[in-house]
Amino acid sequence: MQNVEQADPILRWAGGKRWLLPTIRTIIGEERIINYHEPFLGGAAVFLGLTYAGKAFLADTNSDLIEVYECIRDEYRALHELLSEHVNTSQHYYAVRSEIPELAIERAARFIYMNHTSYNGIYRVNLNGQYNVPYGRRENPRMPTLEALKTVSQRLQNSSLDARDFESCLDSVGPGDLVFLDPPYTVAHNNNGFVKYNQKLFSWEDQRRLSNVVDEIKKAGAYYILSNAAHDSIAELFDKGDRLVVTKRRNAVGGSASARGSASEYLFTNVGVL
Ligand SMILES: C[S@@+](CC[C@H](N)C(=O)[O-])C[C@H]1O[C@@H](n2cnc3c(N)ncnc32)[C@H](O)[C@@H]1O
Repeated sequence: MQNVEQADPILRWAGGKRWLLPTIRTIIGEERIINYHEPFLGGAAVFLGLTYAGKAFLADTNSDLIEVYECIRDEYRALHELLSEHVNTSQHYYAVRSEIPELAIERAARFIYMNHTSYNGIYRVNLNGQYNVPYGRRENPRMPTLEALKTVSQRLQNSSLDARDFESCLDSVGPGDLVFLDPPYTVAHNNNGFVKYNQKLFSWEDQRRLSNVVDEIKKAGAYYILSNAAHDSIAELFDKGDRLVVTKRRNAVGGSASARGSASEYLFTNVGVL
């Protein structure tokens, strides 16, 4: 992995993995990667944070998000111009939120604008597919600069972008490739040994499909790095006889240092095992 400029994410994204980059870089080490795949792209913190110069296959089921990356790749200047027309006021926010523009580039500017000015940057739509996150009253939203968009645009030139389910990534995985998998974490509540999963986000069935995908990636002679919740059921499902790295993330709860806790997450990988 070498040779291109590292870039920062353009979007605020729930479950963003920027904090995992040092660990992921250590895991990859000097391993030679042919193609890179990231089928749960989200805020793209890992793809953008690695300095990988080869071909990338990027995907997410969120088609609005994929459209944003396509516009950054293909027309970042025009996108920046449209973005600079937006202002951070409640009135403007709700006016923008109420209308979905016809042009892809206008929709992309709207997405980025609302991502930075909404309450918490999460992507949430109602049953009619309408974005319904309230205005955030953020004093200094960090809208992407022209320079930041340009850097990301350059990074995306050698990428394919697809709005699709993670299983389709297998179509293009070949020997020596690396697949970074960062699914939404299935929330498990442990009541007397009974594990209930949040069906709406990412069901247990999805986790099982993902486990099969990991098996197929291995069969293809490729590498995988999978991040997932630190839970016994996950450890069992993804025990492929490879490496399990337990990561700890310090998170601020309530803001004061004394109230800070840390949460564990699991990273499963066959890098260094293959
Ligand atoms: C935890 S986020 C990824 C965060 C990303 N690694 C980052 O650093 O910003 C998980 C992503 O998976 C996407 N997703 C959910 N279900 C999916 C599916 N079945 N196939 C592909 N992507 C899916 C969500 O839209 C979300 O963007």
